[in-house]
Amino acid sequence: MANLTPIAAIGTNAELNAQVQSILATYFEVKIFTDTDHAIDALQHDPYYALIVDNNVKPTGGLPFLGRTKKISYIDNIPKILLIESHSEKLVQESDFGVDFEYLLNPVNRQQLLEKVSTSVNAGVEKSWEKLPTVQRKVLTETVGIFRDTFKVMHDGGAIPVHDIEKSCSPLVEAVESDQVVGLLSAVQQHDDYTYVHSLRVAIYLSLLDHAVGMKGDELLTLSSGGLMHDLGKGLVPQEILNKPARLEAEEFEIMKTHVDHTKEIFGKANDITIGVEIIALQHHEKLDGSGYPLGLKGSELNTLARMGSIVDIYSALTDRRVYKPAMEPDKALGIMSEMADGLDMALLSTFKEFLMDATSTPE
Ligand SMILES: [Fe+2]
Ligand SMILES: [Fe+2]
Repeated sequence: MANLTPIAAIGTNAELNAQVQSILATYFEVKIFTDTDHAIDALQHDPYYALIVDNNVKPTGGLPFLGRTKKISYIDNIPKILLIESHSEKLVQESDFGVDFEYLLNPVNRQQLLEKVSTSVNAGVEKSWEKLPTVQRKVLTETVGIFRDTFKVMHDGGAIPVHDIEKSCSPLVEAVESDQVVGLLSAVQQHDDYTYVHSLRVAIYLSLLDHAVGMKGDELLTLSSGGLMHDLGKGLVPQEILNKPARLEAEEFEIMKTHVDHTKEIFGKANDITIGVEIIALQHHEKLDGSGYPLGLKGSELNTLARMGSIVDIYSALTDRRVYKPAMEPDKALGIMSEMADGLDMALLSTFKEFLMDATSTPE
């Protein structure tokens, strides 16, 4: 599947290779190399986002192999994970091949490997943001940081840092007001924390739409932060449903829908949520014909913000890249949405279409 992030696994042991492949295949495109020479060739030709190296790989062994990767410039910036036997741990810790890497002990623990690769790939993606223009880099680094902190606070049952979340969106407002969002949308797409990627994309599109209808300054800032916070309740949905690498079954979808109620609880613990943010977060799944959730609100019960939230959320979900589906082309997504005349505000949808063509076709 071309939409998955490619990583390279280098090892001679077929059983270990199969194990690594089966652990990671739903999240990453795992390319196996059974000897170090082939691996070096391949790494020079195609970029990979992480290396997983069996320390026993033939003919050179894992550590000298990592030493050889120094001559390939991008490898320096990607995570490298060495799989070792426990008796070689001391040797590996003391070795010096001039490359930074992390290691995991054999036999490989599924959860540990998955977490390490995910965290490392994200760290690599976040590092690649350093090359972006300042405003774009700030949007990404500030929102990813606050998003992580907010999830921690939510899990501990505390009050989310509403003011800091809003502050983290000011580079986004700047990017929207100075026409610099195109690079942002593609830079965030490789990140592996789907809830973050989706939330930031919603914040970006919502800010664009709000800006297109004339909002500015503080008002725009508050609504962007509403985009970033619109699905916070997903943090309290069980992980296996939230990150399921396939479409949800009907029962699982019912559980997923409870994210809106969770968001309400989370907001209840904070005392500085503005009404605009609340509407975006609690009504983005409502539909004009009353078929939405959680309340089944209808027509005039849904104000412009709720209608915008729903358009932007559906558009983002369709064009998001997921492990089980590639990102849908914008035209196709907008085509599908044009058929939803009963549920979506068609006048707002055409405004959205117009400015989307403008905003995303602007050369950087
Ligand atoms: Fe949602
Ligand atoms: Fe959403």
